[in-house]
Amino acid sequence: MSVSLTPGSLARLLGEWNLGAAPAYRELADVVRLLILDGRVALDVALPSERSLADTLGISRTTVTAAYSLLRDQGFLSSGQGSRGRTCIPHRGPRGTAADGRSELSGAPGLAIPDGLLDLAYASLPASGEVVHRAFAAALTELPALLPGFGYDALGVGPLREAIAAHYTAAGVPTTAGQILVTSGAQHALNIVLRTLAGRSGTKVLVEHPSYPNALDAIRAAGCRPVPVAMPPARQGGRTGWDIEAMESALLQQRPAMAYVVPDFHNPTGRLMPDTERRQLVRAASASGTVLVVDETMRELNLDGARSTPLAAFGPAVVSIGSLSKSHWAGLRTGWIRAGESLIQRFAAARTTMDLGGPVVEQLAAAHLVNNLTEPLPERLASLRTNRDALLGLIAENLPTWQAERPDGGLSVWCRLPGPLSTAMTVIAPDFGIRLAAGPRFGVGGAFEHYLRVPFTLAPEQLRTAVLALRSAQDRLEASPQLRRDLTSPPAVAIA
Ligand SMILES: Cc1ncc(COP(=O)(O)O)c(C=O)c1O
Repeated sequence: MSVSLTPGSLARLLGEWNLGAAPAYRELADVVRLLILDGRVALDVALPSERSLADTLGISRTTVTAAYSLLRDQGFLSSGQGSRGRTCIPHRGPRGTAADGRSELSGAPGLAIPDGLLDLAYASLPASGEVVHRAFAAALTELPALLPGFGYDALGVGPLREAIAAHYTAAGVPTTAGQILVTSGAQHALNIVLRTLAGRSGTKVLVEHPSYPNALDAIRAAGCRPVPVAMPPARQGGRTGWDIEAMESALLQQRPAMAYVVPDFHNPTGRLMPDTERRQLVRAASASGTVLVVDETMRELNLDGARSTPLAAFGPAVVSIGSLSKSHWAGLRTGWIRAGESLIQRFAAARTTMDLGGPVVEQLAAAHLVNNLTEPLPERLASLRTNRDALLGLIAENLPTWQAERPDGGLSVWCRLPGPLSTAMTVIAPDFGIRLAAGPRFGVGGAFEHYLRVPFTLAPEQLRTAVLALRSAQDRLEASPQLRRDLTSPPAVAIA
């Protein structure tokens, strides 16, 4: 069935789009383009009719007609019947794109490239295929024993909860299966936690700034107010961490109900929080009555082998979120929450308002994966190290005005640009064969226009193509101050 966007929904997504920095039709087209590129407007969705959108936005129909026509020319709107074009992505690839629309590079180790654009918006890896496949084969042999049951289990199947608990215990945090709730990934876990702990509108949630965009979106969608605490800018030649004193004073002064942190290879900076800072943070959260929620999705992507203790080891009230998405594959959609048993029961109750449990075969397979959690890691980490070093080298060589922070782990490099170019680069990136996530998506209130997250999930030869594309996009913007001005304002809008 065809999906269409109502004028009201699009108006809400557009926010304060009309800033007067460029002709109105251009501003409207640019923000819609950004919404499509960011995935906030899905593909193959019919946009509102020109007349209805003009009425809703209180602008002339000519402006909407011109904006739609620009989007069509740029390849973001198909020429549908009448004026109701459907959203799409331009089918122009980077040099080297094969006739079937797949890049010739897609045969190289790395990610497949379905639409010819090198994707630098996702920081995610293909599956550890053989390991995952074997786990599913084993799960299928175990399935018959569970078939007589109902198949509903809000907490998750026993073998997986036991495997996750054993994993925490081995890492120095004694844990029982009763302290584990299995979820459909870390994002689902965060939503369950938000629904349980931050139910009232306007609840304050402390966040690192920058932070993981989907977490910020979930916090805002739950009606909460993110309280950002700045991460210190990277120091050249030295390790940079967190501003724990700033976090302590924000906790004490603002007394947020919840804090969301990513201490294990923070997304997007890739930093690892030292144990001393972990201890301080847990103590400060306890003093301010704040539930500290730690997202450990990236924890296994430890590129330099630095040691750290899970945050939960420093205090019994810490709520930990984990996932197999980065260690094995995001397609498993398997994550978990670790907390005290009574809180886990509250999370299970909240969960049943969203779904009634996870799929059983996936959980049985995940139990095998968690029991051998490190199996795919040596190979995965070795190629990530190669990719990280290749990317840092390529940036130094081709983008000498960028400051790229060397990450301790994770999947991306957080780069400071020579100017507020991030959104403009994101908007023109498809013209150069790449897709980007604009810096402001990682912040609150339009911050990080000077920053871009560049993942190193692609193979070195793909990264070379991507970095050269970034260079060409930057050159185009530097040659055209007008273009740069026109394209810099909208994302603050979409984020706020
Ligand atoms: C910090 C962080 N949390 C959560 C997620 C989403 O994880 P999942 O796929 O398990 O929902 C990601 C994915 O990139 C992430 O980086």
